[in-house]
Amino acid sequence: MAASIPYYPVNEFGPLMKGLVIGGVGILHVFLAQFAIGGGMLLYYFERLAQRGQPDARAFVDGYFKVLVLVSFVVGALTGVAMWFTTIQVGARTIGLMLDEFHWLWATEWVWFSVEIVAGYAFYRFGPRLPDAARRRLLALYAIAAWMSLFWINGILSWQLTPGAWLEGGGVWAGFFNPSFWPSLLFRTAVAATLAGLAACIVINTMDLDRARRAALLARAARFAAPVAVMPLLALWYLAVIPEDSRSWLLGGSMPMTMFVGVAAGASFLIGGYVIVGLIARRLYINGATATMLLGLAFGATAAGEFVREGARKPFTVRGVLYSTSLTPAEVARLRTTGATAGDPYPLRDAARYPTPQLARGAKVHRVLCDACHTLHGANALVELTRTWTDDQLRLNIAKLQRTKGFMPPFAGDAEDVEALVQLLRWEAAGAPAEPGPAARAAPDPAVLAQIRRWLDEVGTEPAHVAGAPPAATPATPPAAPPAPASAVPPAARAP
Ligand code: HEC
Repeated sequence: MAASIPYYPVNEFGPLMKGLVIGGVGILHVFLAQFAIGGGMLLYYFERLAQRGQPDARAFVDGYFKVLVLVSFVVGALTGVAMWFTTIQVGARTIGLMLDEFHWLWATEWVWFSVEIVAGYAFYRFGPRLPDAARRRLLALYAIAAWMSLFWINGILSWQLTPGAWLEGGGVWAGFFNPSFWPSLLFRTAVAATLAGLAACIVINTMDLDRARRAALLARAARFAAPVAVMPLLALWYLAVIPEDSRSWLLGGSMPMTMFVGVAAGASFLIGGYVIVGLIARRLYINGATATMLLGLAFGATAAGEFVREGARKPFTVRGVLYSTSLTPAEVARLRTTGATAGDPYPLRDAARYPTPQLARGAKVHRVLCDACHTLHGANALVELTRTWTDDQLRLNIAKLQRTKGFMPPFAGDAEDVEALVQLLRWEAAGAPAEPGPAARAAPDPAVLAQIRRWLDEVGTEPAHVAGAPPAATPATPPAAPPAPASAVPPAARAP
């Protein structure tokens, strides 16, 4: 009880909710970074071909493709930093926990990343002047280092959704080699190879060669993209190891997510069909326009896939340990009695806008408990989602938030907080008048508060977990949080 919640400074991103900011940067980053990994491996493959006598492979390796790989790994690195910068704005506590848990593994990733930069730049700068053996070694070093940085970061990121035995005190390696580590690593490796093969097809089409010699190179690039064929199996493996409720959303429980799964699977299927049947089996010639279209499809599939992967984690950023609101399950139970805003040290940006203290409180409640995934008027806008609801419907659904939708955390505040939020949403829906309606002006009705309190008690503070599970049996007092390893709870000492 003594440990205080660390409240990090809050930032507002206007109508673009925080998730979209992260998503936008993240998708670009993942696409470029995966291409840079596959591109490194493909360069090594073509260098081998050149050294074994393929007449045009050397021109390919020293041509545009090399520049493309370099540009994408530089931009990939920059967007990678931008990623951590934006995620820290939104979930400082989550990133803090990741850093605490995986400190040295993260440092290891950075070492590999530095090796990647040095090897890549050395090849770019001096490659044409180096002897064969040195070229091979440098490219191998680049490719291995690029893949190793994926290896390390993949363990840390996949741990967020499937912490596995780490939750039972299994320690850092149990967290790193968590249930989704291998399917996710192999899937991304296959994606990297596919992206590189497709981009190579575009670049080969820009080379000044006759059709037959171009076709010879294209056949090699297509062969490199062959791992696209195992992606369905790896995707099924991944689906099998993620938590059951996440899986159920992807498979129909949440239509937006299901549709994105469909888009990703459909686009990948089209690419895979073209590569395997068209390019490899029937040896069709692929021109630059078609290759560009396929790469565009691959970008769409990557975007959809990342959306799904991020969405599947809800309501947690670290499953079972930290909600998307940066609160632990134990803190949710505590805030039920203290109120959501008791310890929040930050004033509202435009406090003068709110004509009553209750509406200002509602705005603060929204900021700490909803803002991570909603806005009031923009993306996933709360005012619009609830515009047609009656007041009591709104009270019930907010009080029982984790039952309203299983991917929302339990409401972490008291009955006054629920009522303040309800009044705020009504007031915003009415166009935020300077003179609020009678309900927002009057003190909250004790009978209404008592009813909200009953709803809060009924629903308890456990997450919904398994979608479709029957509502929890009325725990009047909040149940104790599940035992977690001492390290699972971010040290309160990090409080500002
Ligand atoms: C972890 C992310 C997350 C958090 C935190 C969150 N929500 Fe949601 N909420 C969602 C998502 C995703 C939807 C689905 C939107 C849709 O169906 O279009 C949703 C839907 C809703 C809906 C509409 C439900 C329906 O059945 O139509 C309401 C109301 C709502 N949220 C209220 C809130 C309130 C109030 C808070 C803060 C106390 C909150 N949410 C916090 C993610 C979240």
